[in-house]
Amino acid sequence: MLHYQENVSLLPYNSFGIDVRTRQFVEVQNLADLKTVLAAHRHHAFRVLGGGSNMLLTKDYEGLTVQLNLKGIEVIQETEQEVWVEAQAGENWHFFVLWCLEQNYGGVENLALIPGSVGAAPIQNIGAYGVELEAVVQQCNTLEVATLEAVTFQRDKCAFGYRESIFKNQEKGTFIITSVVFKLQKAPHQTHKEYGALKTLFGDKNPSIQEVAQAVINIRQSKLPDPKYIGNSGSFFKNPIIAEDQFKRLQKNFPQLPFYPNATGYYKIPAAWLIDTLGFKGYREGDAGVHENQALVLVNHGKASGSEILTLSKKIQNAVQEKFEISLETEVNIL
Ligand code: EPU
Repeated sequence: MLHYQENVSLLPYNSFGIDVRTRQFVEVQNLADLKTVLAAHRHHAFRVLGGGSNMLLTKDYEGLTVQLNLKGIEVIQETEQEVWVEAQAGENWHFFVLWCLEQNYGGVENLALIPGSVGAAPIQNIGAYGVELEAVVQQCNTLEVATLEAVTFQRDKCAFGYRESIFKNQEKGTFIITSVVFKLQKAPHQTHKEYGALKTLFGDKNPSIQEVAQAVINIRQSKLPDPKYIGNSGSFFKNPIIAEDQFKRLQKNFPQLPFYPNATGYYKIPAAWLIDTLGFKGYREGDAGVHENQALVLVNHGKASGSEILTLSKKIQNAVQEKFEISLETEVNIL
């Protein structure tokens, strides 16, 4: 049964803990209901909420907010070494990771504890500790909003990039991801431990996927604020990627500048370092602040509004632009 509600606060549905309202709200538990809702609303303003963990809500919404609650995790194919698992869009991402760890299916252990839902994960190609989602996605199953037809995107059609995908760019709003098929390793014996903190911890050891996941959980808990206690959306900005000549100029002025070169002669710079160097770590304007352990994470200390957080983010962007001549892009969706 579809239950439409009027004038609903979105406070419980976004990890930043912003109290804005939506004119209408409906929770959807299955594909048939999603089609019914879209058929009735596709010519009106509507938007779909997943885990609400990668967005900053800055104002009330005059349309319909659809909370996608499709649930289920299922093995759909397997060989001796590999397994294909389909997870519905509304499953909690970390719950899915824990499920994989229980079955001893390898591939997502480095992505433990990332907030959000399975359906939102491919949209920004979530990544952490040396692994990006695209490495394990086989296909995304979607519903095309205009036709209500099911459309499948194989991995190579998803245009995955650093925190990017076709669903965030070219085809934004055209398709709703309803489930994701992952290709995982059974009895995995190879883990990803190249990322700084994991390398330091494991060295030459060959940890199990459960040990890698536990290490990631420990690191995240020590650095990143838990949205249950302090509102946030993880990294607020993307790490900027700059060309070699600009990098060389910057390095001259800032010899400690950390960097990750990539194959094409560009350099990824940790935005956290830029923000930290400007002295913003722990900075606060009212209830809008910069986290004290990770300068890339903006936080809501209590009752900050979305626009107060946005104002702080612009202040940071301006300061970074002025000092480093780098324009920081937001990673979080501003709505
Ligand atoms: N650093 C600082 N000050 C800080 C924090 C970090 O100077 O306050 C510097 C350090 O030099 C550190 C470097 O920044 O070596 C990188 O920091 P960290 O390893 O914490 O990673 P990040 O680049 O800030 C990215 C992702 C995170 C992901 C981590 C770990 C982006 C935008 N963010 O952060 O993803 O968890 O790597 O892989 O790529 C997210 O996307 O929401 C997210 C949390």
